[in-house]
Amino acid sequence: MSKSQQSIPVITIDGPTGSGKGTVSRLTAERLGWHLLDSGAIYRVFALASLEKHIATDDEHALARLAGKLEIEFVPGPTGDSLVLLGGRDVTDAIRQEKVGSQASRVSQYREVRQALLECQRAFQRFPGLIADGRDMGTVIFPDAELKIFLSATAEERAKRRYQQLISKGIAADYNEILQDLLERDHRDQSRPVAPLKPAKDAELIDNTNISIEQAVQKVIDLAHQRHLVG
Ligand code: DC
Repeated sequence: MSKSQQSIPVITIDGPTGSGKGTVSRLTAERLGWHLLDSGAIYRVFALASLEKHIATDDEHALARLAGKLEIEFVPGPTGDSLVLLGGRDVTDAIRQEKVGSQASRVSQYREVRQALLECQRAFQRFPGLIADGRDMGTVIFPDAELKIFLSATAEERAKRRYQQLISKGIAADYNEILQDLLERDHRDQSRPVAPLKPAKDAELIDNTNISIEQAVQKVIDLAHQRHLVG
C-alpha cells in the first residue's frame, strides 16, 4: 500500500450471505460520497470464469492461475449503477445467479486464489474514502480500517429476504432450498482455513434482523461520525 493510501479512511462491512450488507454498503457509500468495493462481485466474476472454463472446484493451481489473469472491470452504467465486466463482456446479471454465488463460495476457499485477488481489492482504497463489503475485509484485506462493522441477521430472515427478492424479480424460488443453500454457504465460508467469515476483534456488531436497511445505514454513519471519519 502506498503512503498516501494509508491516510484514506476505510469502513469495512463484513457479514454472511443475505445479511443486507450489499445494500447497506452501497447506500452508505452513496450517502458519504465514498467509493465502494463489492468484493463478493470479484469472487463471483472469478467463479463465473471458472464455470465457463470448466475448471474443477478442487484444482487449486488451475484456479489460482485463472485468478491471476482475471480481466475484471467495474464501469459506470447508463443508469449510474456500476457494471461488472469480464474480459470486456457485461456479466452484471450473470454473476447474480444462485449457482454462481454457490460456486464463488467453493472456489474462494484457496489461499493462492485469495492471494491473487488481494491487490485488486486493495486498489479500491481511493479518496475521499472506501466502503469495503465482504467476508474478510476487516480481518485480512483492510486490517487497519478505522471502522469495522459485522452485519448479521438470522438465517431464516436472510432466506426470507432472498426469497422475496427473487419472487419480486419474477424468478421462481423455493424458500426451503434457499435456506438450505444459505446454511451450507455459511458453513463453508465460516469453516474454511483461509480468511474465514468471522467478525474482526475490533468490529462493531449490528444485528440486522429487526431493523430496516435505513436504520442500519444510519448506525454505520453515526459510528463514522463518532470516529471523526466524516465532517
Ligand atoms: O457476498 P456474495 O454473496 O456476493 O459473495 C459470494 C461468495 O464469495 C461468498 O459465499 C464467499 C465469497 N467471498 C469471499 O470469500 N470473500 C469475500 N470478501 C467476498 C465473497
